[in-house]
Amino acid sequence: MTVPDIIIAVDGCSSTGKSTFAKLIAKEFSFLYLDSGAMYRGVTLFAMEKGMIEEDVIDETALEAALPSLELHFEHSPQGTNLFWGSRCIEKEIRTMEVSAYVSPISALPFVRAWVDELLHLFSKGGRVVMDGRDIGTSVFPNAELKIFLTASPKVRVKRRYDELISKGQKTSYEEVVKNLSERDYIDSHRSVSPLRKAEDAFVLDNSDMTLHEEIIWLRGLIQGRFGIFE
Ligand code: DC
Repeated sequence: MTVPDIIIAVDGCSSTGKSTFAKLIAKEFSFLYLDSGAMYRGVTLFAMEKGMIEEDVIDETALEAALPSLELHFEHSPQGTNLFWGSRCIEKEIRTMEVSAYVSPISALPFVRAWVDELLHLFSKGGRVVMDGRDIGTSVFPNAELKIFLTASPKVRVKRRYDELISKGQKTSYEEVVKNLSERDYIDSHRSVSPLRKAEDAFVLDNSDMTLHEEIIWLRGLIQGRFGIFE
């Protein structure tokens, strides 16, 4: 299927399967995959390692001053997309529970959002991009040609996140995952700058009971109908 040079925005709450779906779209249509959540996680890791978070308090002044010195970029290969801090691959470190615990307050800071948005625009210059996040369709790329808003039941989301952490060898409990997801949902959807919400022109997909194959079939149908492709 030949898909036009469009930007596809995939938004939704944590653990609704956004990145898995977006990565699959990238593979299926030879698009570039950009993970905006990874960028916020990268900033969080940076703040943690530079000692800017102490006893749950973020030193915003220090972070704002140091942010221009942070060099984050993605490296893409057939095996996947990885986030780098300079020459260091941080893809694994940014997925820990410690980073997850601080990423929502960090991503609520307006100067952090402005910094990430600028980089996302820069990385998307060539087009044919699929990007996942919370505010891609509403704020980062409000003119994206195709917007998808993923949802899944709370039970399914907790199970996905728990299984993901355990499979990566991380120590956590079911209760801890429930707590982290509900806290992040709350902060992400109540912050004053670019809160998580569905764009008016986004197509909603509840994938609680769907396989990835079914999600792609749904997307193909959507693209065919939307762009008049009959292949
Ligand atoms: O998708 P994720 O769980 O890796 O995202 C990590 C955090 O980053 C999430 O709690 C909210 C924030 N985020 C955001 O505010 N805006 C985005 N476009 C993407 C992520």
